[in-house]
Amino acid sequence: MAFYITTPIYYVNAAPHIGTVYTSLVCDIIARFKRLEGQKVRFLTGTDEHGAKIEKRAQEKGINPQEFVDQLSVHFVDAFKKMNISNNDFIRTTEERHKKAVHHFWKVLQDNGHIYLDKYAGWYSIRDESFYTEAELVGGKAPTGAEVEWVEEESYFFDLSKWQDKLLEFYQNNPDFVQPKSRFNEIVSFVKSGLHDLSISRTGVKWGINAPGNANHVIYVWLDALVNYISALGYPNVDGDYKNLWPADVHMIGKDITKFHAIYWPAFLMAAGLPLPKQIVSHGWWLNEGEKISKSLGNVIDPNELINQYGLDYVRYYLMREMSFGNDGNFTKESFMNRINSELANKIGNLLQRSLSMIFKNCDERIPNLKNNIDYLYNNYDVLKQAASLYSDIKPLFDDYQFNKVLEKIMLYADELNRFVDTSAPWLLKKTDPEKMKETLYVIVECVRYLGIILSPFIPESAQKILFQLKAPIKERDFVHLTKEFALDCHHILKPESVFPRIEEDV
Ligand code: MSP
Repeated sequence: MAFYITTPIYYVNAAPHIGTVYTSLVCDIIARFKRLEGQKVRFLTGTDEHGAKIEKRAQEKGINPQEFVDQLSVHFVDAFKKMNISNNDFIRTTEERHKKAVHHFWKVLQDNGHIYLDKYAGWYSIRDESFYTEAELVGGKAPTGAEVEWVEEESYFFDLSKWQDKLLEFYQNNPDFVQPKSRFNEIVSFVKSGLHDLSISRTGVKWGINAPGNANHVIYVWLDALVNYISALGYPNVDGDYKNLWPADVHMIGKDITKFHAIYWPAFLMAAGLPLPKQIVSHGWWLNEGEKISKSLGNVIDPNELINQYGLDYVRYYLMREMSFGNDGNFTKESFMNRINSELANKIGNLLQRSLSMIFKNCDERIPNLKNNIDYLYNNYDVLKQAASLYSDIKPLFDDYQFNKVLEKIMLYADELNRFVDTSAPWLLKKTDPEKMKETLYVIVECVRYLGIILSPFIPESAQKILFQLKAPIKERDFVHLTKEFALDCHHILKPESVFPRIEEDV
């Protein structure tokens, strides 16, 4: 089964920061999870390179916009590599394949009678790349707090106002279209309050894709950008990837761009006669020690620095564990250290270290030879039964994007397993009942095998290290293998090395 997931495409003018890489990280974790479930995943990310904002920045720097975006787009490619993001494609809106798709899409809207030429007189925010009516302004600024400028120029319009009823009908028939529900309700009320036709070209902006047949106009950057989701599938060719992958399963976005994805994009698609994405998932924002992250406050968190300091998987784990999905998340150094030390280091790291060291020292460096007794063990040890149902326990939470709860459940299970280690005390059995000690150690490492596989989407490198230490066969590390049939064989293990060292640092 094919699964298509996308991130927003990032404006290249700002360097990647914790907030922007978060959207890609969430998609990465979903993509990895689905792959481990056996689905064929297409995962798209990329950069949004046109529009007034980029044009202005390039001018300020005195360089040609194409050169400017060429230099900056690489930062995102590099950041995603460093984050171990497993995208299959990276689209740039300055690529030919994209321009071709946008031109075609525009022509279809025009041929279908949804575009007309008129004059725009209203407000525009360069930061938001968004048009605002007088009534929407708050204290002379955009509702987002961005500066606005008055624009009066010839413009092509899209007949958005005509789509109000169709959109509302669609929302009603697809009650899960936007997640979370609260944000969906905001969108529904916005549409109910009435839609104005949308200006979809600028004559005052030069950096972008020209409107077909009228080179004085540059296509509005949001119309240009949204089309990336299908241009990457080869649109206007609708036979190849497009046929297999469209409509997308999930467009993952941050809450600030919900309107563009849940109102404009569906209206454009309906007008072009194309199917609508299955779901728009809108996450909250990261704050830094309680404050909004912004360049002007100087509190931007650079993911590179964090990764260099603490290691990639600690950063990945923290971001997924700390944010309650849909709400805003607060990045604090203290909570970072606490999460890592009390969960990864204390719960999983110690467990691994204790059990593997005992096997290494007391069982001839081999996993005990107990696979033949697997039915007996699964029937008699609750921790094994629980391990075997871990995947089905977390699956509904995962599918509901409650990643923090998924990790919480996994940690509760790790607590359970640690309690089992403490109460069965294999170090005492060593003298009194060595066979029982082997049995206990086998049960523990078999449970750790489940943990390694289940944690893979979140912390891929560390999970592989866990499975490597157990010498779990490489081909048996996906969710199909979360059963007793694939229990660990008797084989040599390597001298255990610490996978989750504690962070020793003053806060
Ligand atoms: N170019 C548009 C998207 C076009 S998609 C067809 C854009 N780009 S952006 O670079 O400004 O933002 C990209 C994503 O980063 C958005 O989903 C946005 O919500 C997210 N974030 C930016 N700052 C953020 C935080 N502080 N926290 C979490 N996500 C944040 O919008």
